[in-house]
Amino acid sequence: MERVNDAANHTAESVPGPPSTAPAPADGGSRKGSGSRLYPRVTSFRSRRGALTATQQQSWNRTWPKIGREVADQPLDAAAWFGREAPLVIEIGCGTGTATAAMAQAEPHLNLIGIEVYQPGLAQLVQRIEREQIDNIRLLRGDAVDVLENMIAEQSLTGVRVFFPDPWPKARHHKRRLLQPATFALIANRLRPGGVLHVATDHADYAEFIAEVGAAEPQLIGLNETTGGISAEHRDSAPIGFERPVTKFEGKAHRAGSAINEFIWGKIE
Ligand SMILES: C[S@@+](CC[C@H](N)C(=O)[O-])C[C@H]1O[C@@H](n2cnc3c(N)ncnc32)[C@H](O)[C@@H]1O
Repeated sequence: MERVNDAANHTAESVPGPPSTAPAPADGGSRKGSGSRLYPRVTSFRSRRGALTATQQQSWNRTWPKIGREVADQPLDAAAWFGREAPLVIEIGCGTGTATAAMAQAEPHLNLIGIEVYQPGLAQLVQRIEREQIDNIRLLRGDAVDVLENMIAEQSLTGVRVFFPDPWPKARHHKRRLLQPATFALIANRLRPGGVLHVATDHADYAEFIAEVGAAEPQLIGLNETTGGISAEHRDSAPIGFERPVTKFEGKAHRAGSAINEFIWGKIE
């Protein structure tokens, strides 16, 4: 049976206020991480099992308690968790964290949170964080829509990155796509004025859909050519870099000859 949530189905009007005002769950809170769920919804991910290797498990046991948390219904105190005040950037569906780690190292002045449901992916990133002693990454395990709804305050994010979200190519699965009008509205609501949303996809049909939905979101303006802006005018003044290392998933897309579409929007000031 599909786990339900509303990544796809909530409406722009349903974007909740600050986490402290999120409504109580209709089911009395019986489902973990379901603070603002008032009705069933589908998720943008499928549950995947995968065991950690012995080395990954050891690294996880040592390091996860310091840098990782399960997604919860409580507002997140990011400054306390990182031990410093710094602009906050989240990466949704960070996978094995190839981009997360490289970007954190390139942007030591930012606090980066990688959000992922797939533990073996997170475990690879945990190993790299430990090995390379990267201190500006924290990790959340669970549904990024729950994070946005319940853990992140309005106008608190400097950046949101979504690299190669699952395209759900079949028409009957389009409702499972992460980037829907409501998710755009939710992300835009959590970005601070001037904050940046950076999306990349190798899937042509999803790219068209993302372009349309992004253009229709009134709180966002295009900052690069794909979104109707001029990147040279914004690149130097934007609060996060426009450059992006090749991710693990993207490597596969390149080998398959797929074109990569890159979207960069800014939250209106
Ligand atoms: C195609 S992979 C891309 C991974 C990585 N960004 C890369 O480029 O290599 C998409 C990832 O998003 C994760 N994902 C999908 N929906 C999610 C959600 N709502 N919350 C957290 N992670 C999600 C999946 O588990 C998967 O690992």
